[in-house]
Amino acid sequence: MLEELYKNLLDKFMEKTPRSRELYREAQKRLPMGVTYHIRFFEPYPFYVSRARGSKIFDVDGNTYTDYWVGHGALILGHAPRRVIERVKEQLDRGSHWGFEHEYAYKLADKITSHLPGVEMIRFTNSGTEANMYAIRLIRAYTGKKKIVKFTGGWHGGYDQLHLGFKPDEYLGSGGLPPETVSHTILAKFNDIEDTENIFRSYGREIAGIIIEPIQGAAGIIPAEREFLKRIRELCDYYGSLLVYDEVITGYRLGLGGAQEYYGVEADVVVLGKIIGGGFPIGALTSRREIMERLDYRRKWTLEEKSFHGGTFAGNPVSMVAGLATLEELEKPGFYDSLKNTTDILAGELLRVSRDYKLDISITSAPSMVGIHFTHREPKNIEEVVSMRYEPLLNRVFQKYSLVRGIVFLTEDITHLLLSSSHTREDISYFVEVFREFLELVEKYIERK
Ligand SMILES: Cc1ncc(COP(=O)(O)O)c(C=O)c1O
Repeated sequence: MLEELYKNLLDKFMEKTPRSRELYREAQKRLPMGVTYHIRFFEPYPFYVSRARGSKIFDVDGNTYTDYWVGHGALILGHAPRRVIERVKEQLDRGSHWGFEHEYAYKLADKITSHLPGVEMIRFTNSGTEANMYAIRLIRAYTGKKKIVKFTGGWHGGYDQLHLGFKPDEYLGSGGLPPETVSHTILAKFNDIEDTENIFRSYGREIAGIIIEPIQGAAGIIPAEREFLKRIRELCDYYGSLLVYDEVITGYRLGLGGAQEYYGVEADVVVLGKIIGGGFPIGALTSRREIMERLDYRRKWTLEEKSFHGGTFAGNPVSMVAGLATLEELEKPGFYDSLKNTTDILAGELLRVSRDYKLDISITSAPSMVGIHFTHREPKNIEEVVSMRYEPLLNRVFQKYSLVRGIVFLTEDITHLLLSSSHTREDISYFVEVFREFLELVEKYIERK
């Protein structure tokens, strides 16, 4: 039985990780769940990291894992890339946080505007959550409308008004959110154009904008269909609403131009995070000048027309310098071709291997991202990810099997792999080999069921 296999794997993981187990026991006294973010928890307890380099992460028990989580997707160059770390060290000697303006924020903004279609101005935040919060405020101030459309399965961080509809069986993502907090947010079904059209027909001109992850990350690497995005763009134009791409994951993963370039469908506001901070805290809201000028407090905006953004650490020089050093690497010729090639090999090989087994398996992918689903076809949205699953425990068993074999990815329930330029052909071949061995093993357990 699958449960029996799962239990065996938990035992094996525990045998390998006595020091992590100890730390976990201690950590629970001071940190709820023993962790600093519940997404980092997995059964029976998370390993605790001692160091990381390239595609490898090492735990306090001396185990090595090939990391397909790469700092929540932030580390497109892998862990501790030399050039970035050197620049950060130089910066630290000159001050970690000046609290005044400096050239690096401007330089990073200038670089990003040179890459992203339609983007003329930028403001930096410390996280993607914060950037989304300010983006929503900005589009409301600009349009003078209240309602926001977000999609089921879309993860935009913990900001109250976007913290809903993440899982199909859960409307609100947390307690402490009175219904009125989300009363201006309308949930639509991802990749279901009729649903979005109906919402626009009902609420039409009250909608300030739509926020969408062009490729849903946490839902399991679920790409929006191009026609879906195009139709959303048309609806926004028709009803005078703004289109916000949350590219906290996809930004600088799909290519320098992000989802706008990848899909050929432009957004009005692009929210960034993760990669642009080169491994340090960051987020950014970006748009054309006409919209971003609502943040210019020298202008004679009325209170309703202007929009606040700020923060103690906004534009801190460490994140700016690390981001600049990272983007310089990404600009090098062939960077994205190589990353895409690695992704195509991984996705292709996983699919090829799956065909040798009876189990339902589908692979979703986009440059530098791969999702593995135990479904008979590629799911189009989170509802399908969950409802088409052959057996929910399979994902957990695979995550545990991988851990025991020296591979880590999150989450336990939705397998999404985030690649970096530090992942080698050997890393990929090893992953595919482990996947094959897992299928071989699991089929036997399922047959015995
Ligand atoms: C698409 C997307 N938007 C927003 C966020 C929130 O970013 P942060 O965790 O930096 O607040 C995330 C985080 O994973 C994300 O994946």
